[in-house]
Amino acid sequence: MIAVDNKVQVIEHPVVQHLLTRLRDYQTAPHKFRRYSLSLSEYLVYEAARFINFREVGVETPVGPAKGQALSDYVILAPVLRAGLIMAEAAQKILPAARIYHVGLKRDEATLQAQSYYAKLPESLPSDSRVIVLDPMLATGGSAVAAIELFKKLNVKTIQLVSFVAAPEGIKKVHSVFPDVQITCGSVDSNLNEHGYIVPGLGDAGDRIFGT
Ligand code: PRP
Ligand code: URA
Repeated sequence: MIAVDNKVQVIEHPVVQHLLTRLRDYQTAPHKFRRYSLSLSEYLVYEAARFINFREVGVETPVGPAKGQALSDYVILAPVLRAGLIMAEAAQKILPAARIYHVGLKRDEATLQAQSYYAKLPESLPSDSRVIVLDPMLATGGSAVAAIELFKKLNVKTIQLVSFVAAPEGIKKVHSVFPDVQITCGSVDSNLNEHGYIVPGLGDAGDRIFGT
């Protein structure tokens, strides 16, 4: 892992980079794209989970008492539809007790503004809530900011974002609005092109996952 700064971690593990390379390849077919996405999501969420608070607990081994740890935050996974769905499936393996709140956002292709079309959230959340927003692509940052805002309105203090690929523009935007959000990703790419796509990126994540 390298820390670009103390709020951005790029996971440089060779397995992560191998999976990301397979995803970048335009020849990777949707069924393989989904398989690689599931694996990559597991590793990224595993790394992001290092920030979760824990409490010390006791445990009895067959030989005697031992000290152990239990996750103590109220963890919420927030996949951004559509592409974040596959990340939630993988994240549940790492954090099986986490609650899942889906967030439906669609980027208007002309204006690049994120439009909300689904958010079924509770009226309040526990004070120790930790939300992990899941979205493979952090491009302009509009979708991430809109997703994070939904939980900030519910007074959630601790919010993380996990993405496969982030553009510098998206990181800057998220941190200009929410400086405390911890971002975990597989790569910080070069820039956005004139259509708001990450360069080199991997194309349209949702289309490639769902074969549309
Ligand atoms: C993609 C991607 C992010 C968003 C990133 O979704 O999965 O949610 O774009 O772009 P931004 O940082 O500029 O907001 P899209 O809106 O294309 O929806 P989809 O997953 O339904 O295809
Ligand atoms: N959304 C994607 O799926 N890919 C990009 O490169 C930018 C936004």
